[in-house]
Amino acid sequence: MKFDTPAQQNPIDQLKVVGKPLDRIDGRFKTTGTASYAYERHDVAPNAAYGFVVGSAIAKGRVKTIDAAEARAAPGVLAVVTTLDMPRLPKGQMNVASLFGGPEIQHYHQAIAVVVADTFEQARDAAARLKVDYDREPGRFDLTAAAGAAPLVGGDSDEGSGAPPVDHVGDFDGAFAEAPVKLDETYTTPDESHAMMEPHTSTAAWEGDKLTVWTSSQMITWGKRDIAKTLGLKPENVRMDSPYIGGGFGGKLFLRADAVLAALAAKVADRPVKLALTRPLVANNTTHRPATIQRVRLGANHDGQITAIAHESISGNLKGGKPETAVSQTKLLYAGANRLTSMRLAELDLPEGNSMRAPGEAPGMMVLEIAMDEMAEKLGIDPVEFRILNDTQVDPEKPERPFSQRQLAQCLRQGAERFEWSRRNPTPGQRREGRWLIGHGMAAGFRNNLLVKSGARVRLDNQGVITVETDMTDIGTGSYTIIAQTAAEMMGVPIERVVVRLGDSDFPSSAGSGGQFGANNSTAGVYAACVQLRDAVAQKLGFNSSEAIFADGQVHSGHRSVPLAQAAGTDGLSAEDLIEYGDLAKKYQQSTFAGHFVEVHVDAYTGETRVRRMLAVCAAGRILNPKSARSQVIGAMTMGVGAALTEALEVDTRHGFFVNHDLASYEVPVHADIPYQEVIFLDEVDPISSPMKAKGVGELGLCGVGAAIANAVYNATGVRVRDYPLTLDKLI
Ligand code: MOS
Repeated sequence: MKFDTPAQQNPIDQLKVVGKPLDRIDGRFKTTGTASYAYERHDVAPNAAYGFVVGSAIAKGRVKTIDAAEARAAPGVLAVVTTLDMPRLPKGQMNVASLFGGPEIQHYHQAIAVVVADTFEQARDAAARLKVDYDREPGRFDLTAAAGAAPLVGGDSDEGSGAPPVDHVGDFDGAFAEAPVKLDETYTTPDESHAMMEPHTSTAAWEGDKLTVWTSSQMITWGKRDIAKTLGLKPENVRMDSPYIGGGFGGKLFLRADAVLAALAAKVADRPVKLALTRPLVANNTTHRPATIQRVRLGANHDGQITAIAHESISGNLKGGKPETAVSQTKLLYAGANRLTSMRLAELDLPEGNSMRAPGEAPGMMVLEIAMDEMAEKLGIDPVEFRILNDTQVDPEKPERPFSQRQLAQCLRQGAERFEWSRRNPTPGQRREGRWLIGHGMAAGFRNNLLVKSGARVRLDNQGVITVETDMTDIGTGSYTIIAQTAAEMMGVPIERVVVRLGDSDFPSSAGSGGQFGANNSTAGVYAACVQLRDAVAQKLGFNSSEAIFADGQVHSGHRSVPLAQAAGTDGLSAEDLIEYGDLAKKYQQSTFAGHFVEVHVDAYTGETRVRRMLAVCAAGRILNPKSARSQVIGAMTMGVGAALTEALEVDTRHGFFVNHDLASYEVPVHADIPYQEVIFLDEVDPISSPMKAKGVGELGLCGVGAAIANAVYNATGVRVRDYPLTLDKLI
């Protein structure tokens, strides 16, 4: 189905099942331990041996020798595969550094060996007996030091659009020079780790030249393609399966060493092998959100109208890597006739920087929305009003492109009312209860809505059960449930009559889970397949398909009603389709919006910050399931608390690695850190987004939260911190 005109009235609009706050259909499996994650596939690989991955102890240079004799002789060892046993493996499309093979080391903890044994302890013990000799070379590990010489790079890296390195609209320099009120500040955000619950994990098994990898991946289509390329296999000889995933946050978008090494190890050991990257390897072997240095300049007239806006970002990456697109939202969020955005990219020898939840906007909004707070204060305008004053209904760079829906002002107004924003004291450092300084802050929330083609297969069997199959993944987001809701609505059956099977590369290729595009696109693919199935049912019964009504497990047309089970016939009926997008997306800018409001208490003596109250008001098209959507948003708000207050991968700039590579020292919020969180979704449908009229919320919920907290800390203390995270040493 090609989606290229605005969505009309369709069966989803009935909202009998879609739009209901249903519990997750996979929730029971997860909470009872019966959902099999990639390290637990006893059902399919009961005799799997254990692999242990060894990472390089240097960040740059070469492996000279690996003496594996002692490891091979250790108890229980079945195989040792080292990076010197094979030439460098070809890279898939999505990797920057090589995943394995050859002597060259590009970053710390790049995989250099996998040891296979009967038990995990034996494999780990033998791995410690490898004797590795390196030639260490000096590397570049310090973004601040490299920033000055970092060259400009092209625009929107997500699309590889070849956008120019500096985007100009109007005359920024002239307008900024003339502006009566100005802000020119530089801010930093640190490297961050995805720190998902389940590490990167794979179980691999061979049958002849056919490989099956049970893994933990957000994007099955990419993963299968890239492992085939890396291992030199025909794609049809590879199956990748990832039905349950313990979080990803972007860290599992791309093929990583776990899948490649499990496959290599299983081949050599001639036995299925399972392995999980250890926690330290998650930080240094995989990807992370790159640190940024961002300069924002704002010029406004005394009325508060922005006349000049510039955002320049510097980030680092391995050679061949991409910049963190931290200026993306600044192109779209506020009006202003004179604009400039640019990115610089420093070549570093740290581990690969890549997508982490809301890449670009997450660190970009952390900065832009502090700058907006600072500017509002300079102007003496309430920060909510300042944002609304500079709202726009069109793309500020291309005024001929309207937003498909843009209720930012409504989010901010409703949020301000709900939060009792008017009771805030705008003068910092004025409110105190005992030892606690109390502050209130807010920020806008913004994240783009992306359209990605997505396929699905649906089957109706002779019991009246609908089975949906797609390689879409559920990374803890609720995909199973919203896909079941979609199929139930389309086919007129209760959700209990729908079976959803996900994450298997044998199923039709989907959008996958990334960029908060999973919900809208994967359900739209299911919608498209269900339209085909409805036609097939109607045709079989001799009904005019435009008149057939699917409800209560039956198909009705005129005076006839036939139960679906009967309509299916003995063999059942199936259909497959793909949602694809035409030019509509070029005519409209599609984004999602929020207002974030936060109350913090800061200890006047120690500088300890406690978040006490959080509110997000979101406008993101139709909300397919308010319960799972709320969970996405409160999870994202929680991540925003971490980004604001504690999370930072600390770089050892001498040896080139992230020092705090475990969950004891990379500090994410725990329950006691998270206060009352409230989420409100505006009643909205977006007929430009897809037949589902939905958009994503999973990343929107993060974008802006960090700044709202930083602004609240400023309001509490009068200390303006421009370097994240806002650890207490920066407040004292
Ligand atoms: Mo997202 S960072 O595209 O999983």
